[in-house]
Formats: sequence, structure tokens, C-alpha cells
Amino acid sequence: MTDATLKIGDHDYPVLSGSVGPDVVDIRKFYAKTGMFTYDPGFTSTGSCESGLTYIDGDEGVLLHRGYPIGQLAEQSSFMEVSYLLLNGELPSKDELDKFSYTISRHTMLHEQLATFYRGFRRDAHPMAIMCGVVGALSAFYHDSTDITDPQQRMIASHRLIAKMPTIAAMAYKYSVGQPFLYPQNDLSYTGNFLRMTFGVPAEPYLVNPVVEKALDRIFILHADHEQNASTSTVRLAGSSGANPFACIAAGIACLWGPAHGGANEAALNMLHEIGRPERIPEFIARAKDKNDPFRLMGFGHRVYKNYDPRATVMQQTVREVFKELNVSNPVFEVALQLEEMALNDPYFIEKKLFPNVDFYSGVILSAIGFPTTMFTALFALARTVGWVAQWNEMISDPEQKIGRPRQLYTGPTQRDYVPVGQR
Ligand code: CMC
Repeated sequence: MTDATLKIGDHDYPVLSGSVGPDVVDIRKFYAKTGMFTYDPGFTSTGSCESGLTYIDGDEGVLLHRGYPIGQLAEQSSFMEVSYLLLNGELPSKDELDKFSYTISRHTMLHEQLATFYRGFRRDAHPMAIMCGVVGALSAFYHDSTDITDPQQRMIASHRLIAKMPTIAAMAYKYSVGQPFLYPQNDLSYTGNFLRMTFGVPAEPYLVNPVVEKALDRIFILHADHEQNASTSTVRLAGSSGANPFACIAAGIACLWGPAHGGANEAALNMLHEIGRPERIPEFIARAKDKNDPFRLMGFGHRVYKNYDPRATVMQQTVREVFKELNVSNPVFEVALQLEEMALNDPYFIEKKLFPNVDFYSGVILSAIGFPTTMFTALFALARTVGWVAQWNEMISDPEQKIGRPRQLYTGPTQRDYVPVGQR
């Protein structure tokens, strides 16, 4: 905390400093002292919690997990290691990492009864609809890890969620294509196992392509956590009432699904396909700039980044690696590169500081690997689960934690008397 205060009327409000980043004004006593609320729809100026997990400097395009830059983690680390880091605060020793990876691998199977739960869905159900349902339903199966006051149970629930998400997502895919579910194979890596459960079939062995495995693992790292975004805030808000962890993560999945958040990767690839060829790019840029047209360039812009999203830089490089390995030449990638260049040189995008975000290139890579567009957001949910559970654990362990309960600026009718239906 600094010695600074903000004076409003007769009252002083302390200014708090974090380890890095903007100071915050502590307005917890604001209503008690003034009888007024603050008004901040969309929370553009509101810090909702104290957190030591992830730091973003949107102007500089910086993203740190527990202090480590995302570029270094994407280049040198693994998703399992980043998961350990987010959950525990420090990078693991070799032994700690082995033990953590082993623990996760021991939780990869789903209760067998859950397989029948899938059969209640239509075959054309969106994987995110299935994931909302199945993850919420986990609380009906794993009663021994729903006591949120017990740190041990919280950790088991966290491990279960991280471990089971690939199985749940792969089963959603298998269900949609009418192929049998594949059980996990725990001698594979976290990501290799997911690839096999998704693309393997019982009739023949599945060989994990190490370049694809590495690229997908990197995509998981890039999506692991992102500070207090909409879905993470949803998880925290749901958790603040004491709801069980599986219900909270199901709430996060529901929020992530929206096209302004995790659904943007699906929307971005659909848009690139719609554009189809470089000659049509100016038409779409003009539409994005037209105030009377609701169209936006999907995969562009970010609430926090007013600079190049550092995750997009890694993504662009990963596209090239995957395309080379799989010998893919996709006109959509050419459209993406040219669209990026044209938008980055357009005064509208420059003035509004609209840069490509993580979702601009992720769809291009995932589609080259073989995932249908409907699976993109499911993969985002899989990876973000570690961030959600780490943030949820941090919140529950915080002695100052309270139920989240925003207030409002009421603009509805003032009190009036009920009129019986026959007299209206
Ligand atoms: N294309 C065209 N114009 C845009 C775009 C875009 N993609 N994004 C923002 N703008 C304009 C917007 O019209 C507004 O203009 P004006 O000031 O004249 O009204 C201005 O830029 C500010 O936009 P905003 O909607 O007030 O900004 P926001 O911070 O509320 O929204 C956003 C951020 C991500 C929802 C928005 O940029 C957007 O809708 N982008 C497309 C969807 C997308 O790619 N989402 C993925 C985000 S990254 C993944 C994740 O973390 O979930």
C-alpha cells in the first residue's frame, strides 16, 4: 500500500499498489461513507480481486504467468509445467513435475456412467453444450472433492478437472462423428493423449505426431490463464457463493462460449473462409469500419491489449511450423496474413489500437490439425480450466473473500400500486 489517498467529499480512500501495474483506489467503504455506488458497466475501471497469478500490460503487449513471460513459457515449457506453475506459484523441480504429471494421468478416466450421459445429447450438439453439461454433472459423481473448505479436496477437484477435460472434450468430438469413445492411454503426454482420444480409433494404433503434439501443447499454454477475463470472473463469482468446483467451471465454460470471448476463434476462421480470397479483403475491412454494419473483424481487438497480443505472435509462428510439417497450403492462411497486414496499416484500426488477438491464428492451426471449427472453443475451455481452477483456489484461500454482489443504477419505475388484470 502507498501513503497516497484519494479524497472525495470529506472522505479519504487509500490507494493500494500491487507489485507492478496501475494502483487501485480502495473504495470498499465508499457506499458506507457516501451512500453512493460507483458505476462501471463492463468493469473497465474496476479491480474485482487481489491476485498473484497473471499480469497483463495491455499497452506494452506483456503477459506474465507468476512473473514468467508467455513467450518464454510457450517456447521452453510444457502445458503440464505451466499448470503446476499456475496452481502452485513456482516452477516445479524435475521430481515435482514428474509427480504432478503422474497425478494428473491417474485422473484421466471418467466415471463409466458418464458415457451414457453423452447419449442423451443429439449427435449434432455443439461440443460446448456437451461440455457445460458434462462438467457440471461431474459434481454428481465426485462427491469426495466438493467440500470447498478442505484444501485437500479442492486440490483433488482441481487435478480431476485438469485431467478429465481432454477426455470430456475428445468424447464430445467422438460422439459428434459417431465413432466409439477411446479410453485415455496414460503413457502418452497430456496433449498426446488428447490427440489420440480425438483422432485415434480402436481398430488401429495411433501414432502421435511430435510436431503437432508440440504445437497443440503450445496452444494450451497460450490459453492457460488470462487474468480476470469474463469467464474467469464468472468462475470466481459462481465460486464466491460457495458453489462446488465442477459447477463453477461449468459456469466458466458457458461464459467462454460467447463470440466476444472464447467463441472468437471459431468466428474468426468462419470469417476467413467467408472472405475466401485476398481480393475480397477490402470489402470486409470496409464493413468492419461501417458504424451501420454490426460486422467486426473477428480475432481483432481486445479489452486489455492495445498492442499486439503476445499470444498472437507465438501463434503466427506456430502456424508456419504446423503447415510445414503437415505439408498444408491453405489459402485461408494467405487471407489471414494479408488481412492482418491491411488492417494494421488502416487508420481506423491504428487509431482504435485494434491488433490481432490470440484467436486470429488459432483457428487456422487447429483446422490444419484436423479439428472441426465447433471444437475450437472446446479446446480453449480445456486449456483455460487450469487458469480457472488456480483462480478459484486463490479466491477460496483468500481470508477477505466475500460473495460477489455488484449493485446497480436503477432506472425502472418507482413504486406504484398493483392494478388487477380486469382493470388494466
Ligand atoms: N472490428 C472492428 N471494430 C472493432 C473491433 C473489431 N474486431 N473491435 C473493436 N472495434 C471498435 C468498436 O466498434 C469500437 O468503436 P467505437 O469506439 O467507434 O464505438 C471500438 O473499437 C472499441 O470497441 P469496444 O467494443 O468498446 O471494445 P471492448 O474492449 O468492449 O471489446 C472485444 C473488446 C474483444 C469484445 C472487441 O474488440 C471485439 O468484439 N473483437 C472481436 C471479437 C474477438 O476477437 N474476441 C476475442 C478476444 S481475445 C480472446 C479472449 O481473451 O477471449
